[in-house]
Amino acid sequence: MMFDPKAFVEEKVEELRKKITGKAIIACSGGVDSTVAAVLVDRAIGERLLTVYVDTGLMRKGETESVRAMFIRLGVHFNVVDASDEFFGALKGVTDPEAKRKIIGERFIRVFEREAKTFGADSLVQGTIAPDWIESGDGVRDTIKSHHNVGGLPKDMKLKLVEPLWDLYKDEVRLVARYLGIEVAERQPFPGPALAIRIIGEVTPEAASIVRDACVIVEEELEEASSKGLMVRPWQYFAVLLPVQSVGVQGDRRAYGRTIAIRSVDSTDAMTASFSRIPYDVLERISLRISNEMKANVNRVVYDVTHKPPATIEWE
Ligand code: XMP
Repeated sequence: MMFDPKAFVEEKVEELRKKITGKAIIACSGGVDSTVAAVLVDRAIGERLLTVYVDTGLMRKGETESVRAMFIRLGVHFNVVDASDEFFGALKGVTDPEAKRKIIGERFIRVFEREAKTFGADSLVQGTIAPDWIESGDGVRDTIKSHHNVGGLPKDMKLKLVEPLWDLYKDEVRLVARYLGIEVAERQPFPGPALAIRIIGEVTPEAASIVRDACVIVEEELEEASSKGLMVRPWQYFAVLLPVQSVGVQGDRRAYGRTIAIRSVDSTDAMTASFSRIPYDVLERISLRISNEMKANVNRVVYDVTHKPPATIEWE
């Protein structure tokens, strides 16, 4: 039988209304799953749900503002928590990739716990969908990286878990999103630890700002080249800030600047990936823009031509 988003929403809202008797909280980064879950629960219990967005200082350019605007448009009761000082403080001096991931995950939980307590929530809503629980739990795979999902919170939070999208697959979530008037951006994947794992070495506000600007240039140029038919839009594409400085010339002066690596891959499931065959002219445009627009910080741009395996998609 065809999936009917209208029937699903009506049934779910009714069920949630009965199930959630107190207050509930949800962490929402603006992704489709958590946003759909937030809107469904909002329809059921209104202001008794608090939707929390944690600004870690490591988000993409304009992300916090656009998520805020989306919450306003959707009419949900939300709080944008600016925790950037807290995150940068906790990451000070840390260069080990796994340590970074753990610190970000833990810090996120602390901030969220505080919000839950202040609000007096006794239920926790999560946007878990079917592939999330079907794919996990094999217990045999090596920990290559500790994946951190903004929704993944510890069991000892003593909050009742509510997962309204448990049985749905991604395409069904998209249908529900459309039905609820949520814009589903076909954005590329973005990791939970955000820009922190695209900064090799210490994560500072300055480094975050450099890699954020470089990511915008890579995104804009590859999206433009794809829309002009010069190439197929890659599966994932971004910039990485390396802890390598090199000598260059700017005008007639010696420069000693930082290095940006461009990473762009084609994949279907992120388990394996190959580097994208970006036309040289497009690579040149990216290189020129980074060199011109970011010359205060960056004087070398390189392209990562490694497949996964042996590399991973992100550098950390
Ligand atoms: P890797 O780098 O492991 O990445 O080849 C595979 C895909 O997963 C994304 N990624 C993450 N996503 N939490 C996430 O939700 C994470 O901690 C995380 N680490 C990597 C990565 O961007 C790529 O799409």
